[in-house]
Amino acid sequence: MDRSRLIWRTLALMGIVVLPVLPALGTGPAHPDIPDLDDLLAEYEAGWLDLDDLRAMGLSVFATPFNVHDGLGDGPFDPAEDDVLAFGHRPTLQGNGQHLRVNGLDSQSCNECHTIVSNRSRLPTLGFGGVGGVVQNAIIMPSVIDVADSTDDRVHFQAGHEPELPMLEDGVADYSGRFANPPFLFGGGGVELLGKEMTADLQQKLQRARQAPAGTEIELDTHRVHFGTVTSLGSGEVSLEVEGIGPEDITGIEPEEVLVVRPFGRKGENFSMRDFDRGAMQFHLGIQPVEVVGEGEDEDGDGQVDEVTIAEMSVLHIFDVTNPRPVEQRRDRASARGKRTFRVIGCMSCHRAQMWTRSSSVPLAHPEVAADPEANVYLEIDLAEEAGFERNSRGGLIVPLYSDLKRHKMGPRLAETFERGGLANDEFITARLWGIADSAPYLHDGRATTLADAIESHGGEAQGARDAFLALRPAQQDDLLLFLGTLRTPRRPNEELVPLLE
Ligand code: HEC
Ligand code: HEC
Repeated sequence: MDRSRLIWRTLALMGIVVLPVLPALGTGPAHPDIPDLDDLLAEYEAGWLDLDDLRAMGLSVFATPFNVHDGLGDGPFDPAEDDVLAFGHRPTLQGNGQHLRVNGLDSQSCNECHTIVSNRSRLPTLGFGGVGGVVQNAIIMPSVIDVADSTDDRVHFQAGHEPELPMLEDGVADYSGRFANPPFLFGGGGVELLGKEMTADLQQKLQRARQAPAGTEIELDTHRVHFGTVTSLGSGEVSLEVEGIGPEDITGIEPEEVLVVRPFGRKGENFSMRDFDRGAMQFHLGIQPVEVVGEGEDEDGDGQVDEVTIAEMSVLHIFDVTNPRPVEQRRDRASARGKRTFRVIGCMSCHRAQMWTRSSSVPLAHPEVAADPEANVYLEIDLAEEAGFERNSRGGLIVPLYSDLKRHKMGPRLAETFERGGLANDEFITARLWGIADSAPYLHDGRATTLADAIESHGGEAQGARDAFLALRPAQQDDLLLFLGTLRTPRRPNEELVPLLE
């Protein structure tokens, strides 16, 4: 088959996509409309399209610079919205009508921020689905940025501010939002599969507890990670004692909702990549997914409906989960010693070298049900075949992620000023260290420009491991850093998809 054929032209002939007016003319959308998921899947089942075609269409959703005709941007500002999170009616900076930058409305495409494949070499390598530099950080829900470090006490005291010097100049520009550095998408399918299996296990334990006699206690362990316990109170009632999962205060929240593993986002807030993407479309691009606002609805009042369709979000999800996984270079003696030290001093208690899945296929669903990953599945993708994961001896995959997919309290040095969503301000999901050699800058906001800085900033639950690292002899520290240096991003990720779109 001719791999450089034009997917869009072919699909347009089949009536599956609606080709846009050339964007250069500026009179139409930049992206073809893909109206119907069932049509697309039928063509896939029939063999007219293969998975790379669907992935390429997803890359196209990810990397096309959208314009107003695609629905880019919010609608008119609504002064009645006092919630800065309310997408669709945000103000624009200086009233420019399009961009805000400091609370989303910050880009025309996803790839504007997810671009760096490797920052390890002096000249970085660029591509699709990579990390972002600091200028690509998302500035999330700020209402105050005290750029002058003023003493004006209308500026709230914020975490990070020296408490003894409440409103004095102390070099802390007070800030009331989140500042987040873009991670890469590589290997995301393996992470999503793991998260979904873990959720399914926890939900099963919960159901067992609901049926057990009062007083029965069940450990919430899955894939060798411990999330607490569930205790039966009899007649189907339970009480939860959880750690590293769910919001800080779980009173009044259904246990089914608490026991969902959410691997995505620096704070671990999203259960699937699609779940993340829905928010990203709205927050960054002001593009409203049909699956959020409904078909034919112009919720933001910008004159566009069906800004991103269910079919488009589905191919985006297919692209997300088939991003190739990061790789480990062969270790020499020094880096092998470094890996041993990494385990011995306790880094691996959170940064688990690998986790095994039961299945090799990630289920993709629409509509998604957080607590039930098996609901509404429309496609299963084998990640050994499609994303380069190694199979384990039990029919599943090895996911060499260096994480436990659990949230941990990291202490005051890393605390944010953000308390929204019921998550503690110093709590983050264990960063996955695969690819770490290439993914500087480090930590949730990109504050660490070197690996040693990133390690030194650890506190809270990681204080002991951090202190143990600092107490190592310099040669041992070097070995450990050499080991981290073997954890690389994939080479030339997603490049094979580009010709399909030309
Ligand atoms: C302005 C920069 C920016 C843009 C534009 C952007 N992202 Fe991101 N992306 C980020 C940041 C920052 C994070 C981490 C967010 C957090 O911690 O909550 C992130 C995280 C993610 C994640 C979760 C990755 C993980 O491993 O946790 C996914 C998936 C993602 N983005 C997809 C998208 C998609 C799809 C789009 C386009 C609709 C998009 N991003 C546009 C900055 C951006
Ligand atoms: C208690 C759990 C825990 C332990 C123990 C721990 N870490 Fe971490 N680590 C985290 C979390 C959570 C983050 C994310 C923090 C953030 O984004 O601000 C992180 C981030 C990192 C990062 C930066 C990752 C990135 O992509 O920016 C590196 C490097 C790292 N850890 C190395 C280590 C090393 C080396 C050790 C042992 C000395 C260690 N960690 C021990 C939880 C832990």
